[in-house]
Amino acid sequence: MKKVAFEQPVLKGEITVPGDKSISHRAIMLGSIAKGKTSISGFLDGEDCLRTIDIFRQLGVNIERNGTDVTVESPGMQDWHQPSDNLYAGNSGTTARLVLGILAASRITCVLTGDEYLSKRPMNRVSIPLKSMGASIAGEADSNLLPLTITGGALTPIDYEMPIASAQVKSAILFAGLTTGGQTTVSEETVSRDHTERMLEQFGADIQKDGNTVRVTGGRMLSGTDVRVPGDISSAAFFMAAAAMIKGSSVTFKDVGLNPTRTGILDVLKAMGAKIDILEQSDGLGEPYGTVNISHDGLHATEISGELIPKLIDELPVIALLATQAHGVTVIKDAAELRVKETDRITAVTTELKKLGAQIEETEDGMIIHGPTPLTGGTLASYGDHRIGMMAGIAALAASGPVVIEDPSCINISYPTFFNDLEKLAFPVK
Ligand code: S3P
Repeated sequence: MKKVAFEQPVLKGEITVPGDKSISHRAIMLGSIAKGKTSISGFLDGEDCLRTIDIFRQLGVNIERNGTDVTVESPGMQDWHQPSDNLYAGNSGTTARLVLGILAASRITCVLTGDEYLSKRPMNRVSIPLKSMGASIAGEADSNLLPLTITGGALTPIDYEMPIASAQVKSAILFAGLTTGGQTTVSEETVSRDHTERMLEQFGADIQKDGNTVRVTGGRMLSGTDVRVPGDISSAAFFMAAAAMIKGSSVTFKDVGLNPTRTGILDVLKAMGAKIDILEQSDGLGEPYGTVNISHDGLHATEISGELIPKLIDELPVIALLATQAHGVTVIKDAAELRVKETDRITAVTTELKKLGAQIEETEDGMIIHGPTPLTGGTLASYGDHRIGMMAGIAALAASGPVVIEDPSCINISYPTFFNDLEKLAFPVK
């Protein structure tokens, strides 16, 4: 249990949030697939990314971590060892799904497992296309659920049109395509985050992008390189929303990732009336990042749907909270993917925010939120989901009484220093 209480707070100051989770996973994965040495700076030492490190260590990759600096030294995926135990992905959907694509194309036979939450999440979205490449993946519910047994082997390239916008599915197929003797093509209707494509290029893969289509040609040996991980905009989003929500607030985010496939939160904050200033911007080893200031400047409702959804899918819980404080009716739709995240985030967000007095309704693929509504204190469940736990922490800033968060340790999955940063930024109004 964690009790969070503020009396009339305002958010002020500067913050550098921890490294991007998606990019940290991919740096370990590609550093392990490649031959030679990869040096990573700004790595996220959250639980999910540590699970990815553990898995590749079990395959014989030498990974040394010194805080947020990580060195990966690999013989290349052709020379990985057979693991002596099951590979455990913990709570991490990105680890499980991307590793499935990698292992399917390796020479390894192993069992991939996860925690109680991950073991309920669908894996068919990757095992179906991987099987059509010739992968051997077996497990319960027609290989939809962990644990899965993977027998790596030679795969054939595919042309795949993705039925859902998912960077995890896209990445698993592109990784599997690396060892085939031809060209694998993945097309998506709505663009999902493109970190894998960017990083594959950095590691020397034969990859081309053409609109919403990505092609990778297998057979080229990847070589280790340097990766700089920018701050995670999905972590920053909690304080960005807080700064937009609380009158008088102004927060500067340093070195935060600004990849255009991830910046939907900035579009929404702007549409809701926040003041956003991009103070600096640069391209650091393949990924754009910069310094951004967000300040409160009124708050009104908006509609969030369509192509914007994949660009802010992980931010929707805190956006829903923000909408409870905005004037008007905010509608979130086309977001049915929220139902298969770490928990069903549509049910979790609506159930928990209602406990504080929010006027929020669940729809099949989103939420409808009426605002502004005064929030009270209360005890909120995290559902073992880091983003629901952090949403509850930010809710305490707007609530008239303390918010108690049950099972707050799940926040270590992506943002171990969340409560320190919250305390650092929130001041009582003088
Ligand atoms: C991720 C992709 C997204 C996102 C997840 C991380 C990734 O999932 O929700 O937190 O690193 O590829 P989907 O690809 O399932 O949309």
